[in-house]
Amino acid sequence: MSDNAPQTRPQSKAIADAQTVTSVRHWTDSLFSFRCTRPQSLRFRSGEFVMLGLLDERGKPLLRAYSIASPSWDDALEFYSIKVPDGPLTSRLQHIVPGDAIILRPKPVGTLVHDALLPGKRLWFLSTGTGIAPFASLVRDPETYEKYDQVILMHTCREKAELEYGRELIEDLRNDPLIGEMVEGKLLYYPTTTREPSERMGRVTENLASGRVFQDLGIDGPMDPARDRAMVCGSLAFNLDIKTILEGWGLREGANSDPAEYVVEKAFVGDGV
Ligand code: FAD
Ligand code: A2P
Repeated sequence: MSDNAPQTRPQSKAIADAQTVTSVRHWTDSLFSFRCTRPQSLRFRSGEFVMLGLLDERGKPLLRAYSIASPSWDDALEFYSIKVPDGPLTSRLQHIVPGDAIILRPKPVGTLVHDALLPGKRLWFLSTGTGIAPFASLVRDPETYEKYDQVILMHTCREKAELEYGRELIEDLRNDPLIGEMVEGKLLYYPTTTREPSERMGRVTENLASGRVFQDLGIDGPMDPARDRAMVCGSLAFNLDIKTILEGWGLREGANSDPAEYVVEKAFVGDGV
């Protein structure tokens, strides 16, 4: 009996947190997105993350951090995910289909939120890989355009196909009858690849430091702490390199408890980090 007790509790809690997958889309061999039902109790700020996952073979929840990619006003939830071939969660999560149950702990947290930044004129979303996920939420939130005159999304991946989720999202946003008008003239999108030739190339760090992105978009550069605010989401190495550039321009890192000019979050925890 006593052996059963600890297993029963997480399982019944997991069932209470179960949500239903409503659609799944595979973008590449290593990237997919999905939508699921939203718990009525879930209130979140665009840009935050939650813990989600599946039950393991023993019926225990196997959970990982995931940025909510949908905006806070959406009735459903959207997530954008990597497929790690031997990853404990994503080796299984990549096979979900509509109707499947996933576990979602409705306790959103995170630093990529408007509250962690002081008011400014221009907002930069700087991302690599799945780091675009929190910005897929923020870029669809009207509050972003109420607070800023200009919003710039930079997203870099190795290959063109990995940019497709973001590219389509921005296109849909511009064509959206409600938000389209709000983003027109305000939202600038700067996708680049680093390993496959494409229209625009180079790392986010290189394009910022060289001034190329300002030139290409026809906007004033470099960033200025009196005007610019930034949110950063990528690998640890990317985040560290971006921090050096932003701090060199005089921007200071903020937090929910102490808003400043930029905020950072890891898109994933790397091997050995
Ligand atoms: P894990 O054992 O968790 O990871 C195995 C290895 O795979 C890692 O050591 C790392 O080298 C690599 N890896 C893991 N995730 C990624 C990734 N996203 N991109 C590139 N390499 C990766 N993942 C998402 O796909 N989408 C998200 O929106 C997302 N949001 C996150 C938010 C936060 C705050 C954090 C800390 C992580 C987030 N992650 C996200 C990563 C996620 O938590 C898991 O690591 C991922 O789902 C893989 O789980 P796994 O159990 O299959 O493998
Ligand atoms: P690169 O191809 O030059 O390494 P990954 O797939 O390894 O997570 O990388 C995703 C994207 O982030 C790639 O385009 C990669 O460029 C870029 N990248 C990786 N590390 C950094 C870094 N430290 N600074 C800027 N960009 C980086």
